[in-house]
Amino acid sequence: MADDTSIFIGASRKPDDSYQRAENLLLQYGNRHGLVTGATGTGKTVSLQILAEGFSNAGVPVFCADIKGDLSGIAMMGTAQDFLVKRAEQVKLDPYDFQEFPVIFWDLFGEQGHPIRATISEMGPLLLSRLMNLTDAQEGIMNIAFRIADEEGLLLLDMKDLQALLANIAERAEEISARYGNVTKPSVGAIQRTLLVLEQQGAANFFGEPALRIADIMRTTRDGRGAISVLAADKLMMNPRLYATFLLWLMSELFEELPEVGDPDKPKLVFFFDEAHLLFDEAPRVLIDRVEQVVRLIRSKGVGVYFVTQNPLDIPEKVLAQLGNRVQHALRAYTPREQQAVRTAAETFRPNPEFDCATAITQLATGEALVSTLEAKGIPSMVQRTLIRPPSSRLGPITPAERQKLIGESPVTGQYDQVIDRESAFEMLQKKAKEAQDAEAQQADTGGSRWTIPGFGNDDPAPQSGGRRAPAPRPSNRQTVAEAAIKSVVRSVGSSVGRAIVRGILGSLSRGR
Ligand SMILES: Nc1ncnc2c1ncn2[C@@H]1O[C@H](COP(=O)(O)OP(=O)(O)OP(=O)(O)O)[C@@H](O)[C@H]1O
Ligand SMILES: [Mg+2]
Repeated sequence: MADDTSIFIGASRKPDDSYQRAENLLLQYGNRHGLVTGATGTGKTVSLQILAEGFSNAGVPVFCADIKGDLSGIAMMGTAQDFLVKRAEQVKLDPYDFQEFPVIFWDLFGEQGHPIRATISEMGPLLLSRLMNLTDAQEGIMNIAFRIADEEGLLLLDMKDLQALLANIAERAEEISARYGNVTKPSVGAIQRTLLVLEQQGAANFFGEPALRIADIMRTTRDGRGAISVLAADKLMMNPRLYATFLLWLMSELFEELPEVGDPDKPKLVFFFDEAHLLFDEAPRVLIDRVEQVVRLIRSKGVGVYFVTQNPLDIPEKVLAQLGNRVQHALRAYTPREQQAVRTAAETFRPNPEFDCATAITQLATGEALVSTLEAKGIPSMVQRTLIRPPSSRLGPITPAERQKLIGESPVTGQYDQVIDRESAFEMLQKKAKEAQDAEAQQADTGGSRWTIPGFGNDDPAPQSGGRRAPAPRPSNRQTVAEAAIKSVVRSVGSSVGRAIVRGILGSLSRGR
């Protein structure tokens, strides 16, 4: 069947419905990306499951999102249910062995898996603006905020850091406008409010440290299998923008951190992007272009990206053109729009003279698909009607008890479970404010101010012992504040992670770059 250079997907069938031959995905082209599409209930998740199994067995780590919880069964041994055994016979999968796979569960909310976090600075202004659905003007301010944080050595780790920074910027709006362009208090206020909403939606859990180490999703087991990272996404789907932004961030991190490998024998990692339409829905042009760019460039880092969605039309054409390995399940074709979608889907395949692609798409059974993979020289194979093999792991979800047990035994247990809150923008700005206040108080106590501002509560000429005065706006005070600020900067640089705050193909400052 499949050897160590390919993954067995299923068996194609002749026009008379009899067995034709095994259909495989060549590992060598596993990083040439892929697409799994089909209407609800046609077999997409199972196809994803058998592909993930195949990559894992080939020693390739996999990252995938589990939208409905039904992919979690991949962590458990499958059982010989009649319809699965029958399918195994149909595709000549012999022996049909059952297997449990090495799974690491992750969850942005830390409930159904290890918490997965990123820092605000890793996320960068472009993705954050997308996450918060900011206007262009607001995004401009976000860019300025990141630049100021960078210049002033303020670490942006969690949401409170960003809130503190924005509050600070609102206070200094005038000075900042003079330097960077228009920043008004109300516009910063609008961003702050959006940030609060995001916090209420539970995004606060996601921002902070310890941030995910890419190495932890690239593990293999001692017996040479790739770890399958399963992200619990059922709750996450209630905030589709967070879901999409997170996966984009992860993709760009992979892109940043992994070295160039050219064309490896097999991928270094395979990344399944379920409900991929969420990536592109209402996404600004610039973001779609960046995604296209990342998908194109990440290939040479050995990462294969597989989009899973109902309809191929959900994916922008430039991205679609880069997805070499295709599994197209059945589509409905009742409305003219659906019929158009079917025709378009059919046209993306290298035709097979034995059957009409568009007709076939509407007639495919559950767990059956039109399959085309890249063969010699990376040329798409002629499309085949293919019965997809049954999974070796369990079909359907695991129980909460099974999940908890696996989480307890995972190789990253204890590594991400506790939040670390080290000194960052929030604490630094607080300290700065306090130092400024203390310096001013000291000024007032020692020197004694000769000047008062009438009507502001300190216009009593007789100093009272222990009484504090409101500071007079004297140049010496300003200097003290500046000194305090410089001290903070030095401290923060000393404790910074040693890389620029803003980086990355999706995190970069300017939209145009
Ligand atoms: N390759 C297969 N072998 C055996 N049974 C399959 C196969 N593919 C799908 N099935 C059957 O079809 C059911 C539905 O498949 P699946 O959950 O993969 O659909 P889906 O396209 O992901 O649906 P949804 O859009 O609702 O998520 C499975 O639970 C299983 O019973
Ligand atoms: Mg599904």
